[in-house]
Amino acid sequence: MTRPSLRIAPSILSADFARLAEEVARVEAAGADLLHIDVMDGHFVPNLTVGPPIVAALRKVTSLPLDVHLMMTNPDAFIPEFAEAGADYLTVHVETCPHLHRTVQSIKERRVKAGVTLNPATPLSTVEEILADVDLLLVMSVNPGFGGQQFIPSVLDKIARARQLIDRIGSAALLEVDGGVKAANAAGIIRAGADILVSGSAIFASSDYSQMIAALRGSAKATAGSKAASPRKR
Ligand code: DX5
Ligand code: ZN
Repeated sequence: MTRPSLRIAPSILSADFARLAEEVARVEAAGADLLHIDVMDGHFVPNLTVGPPIVAALRKVTSLPLDVHLMMTNPDAFIPEFAEAGADYLTVHVETCPHLHRTVQSIKERRVKAGVTLNPATPLSTVEEILADVDLLLVMSVNPGFGGQQFIPSVLDKIARARQLIDRIGSAALLEVDGGVKAANAAGIIRAGADILVSGSAIFASSDYSQMIAALRGSAKATAGSKAASPRKR
């Protein structure tokens, strides 16, 4: 299967919320491919962020696909509202979904792309049976809850194993990585097999969003020659 080209998904968690539309316009103009929206409920993760009204508001001001990451205890109860608000991807944590297959079907029935994600300490095997049914696998490279954390190095191996698993079963799922992604470590993450890099603080704390997005993409070019030696052979 031909791999799609690398996509960059700025996380608005690190944007200036008082000027959100302007921030989104800036990352869109800077070449972002998706907009990553972190929904936190103060229960599954120790932080509170945004809900469906913000997703609906952003839907009106950008044509970027809205990549909504649900860090909440009961995502099933909110899938209809987020779908209605205009989410393009809805990604749920396996730790919060006792009936994951039903949850994924409920997302897809609403013509929204379904994603599943797992915390750093959650084994990859927890998503093995659902991978053929999903559009996105998100591997968390920090413990979710906050922007600006350090990438957990041991997750690199998990990303490589996720790549192998997706390819082995022929899943169409895109492999996304979220947490602590910077220009300095992007090359290794891409080499491990990521299709989408989420980046919050690296982009929004930079003075030039275009330059930072290009730097993250530059890492893709830097590794293009070594793709044949990707961890897939492991
Ligand atoms: C963490 C969130 C991430 C976060 C990434 O809980 O899911 O999307 O915004 O931010 P950085 O890139 O700063 O680690
Ligand atoms: Zn996220």
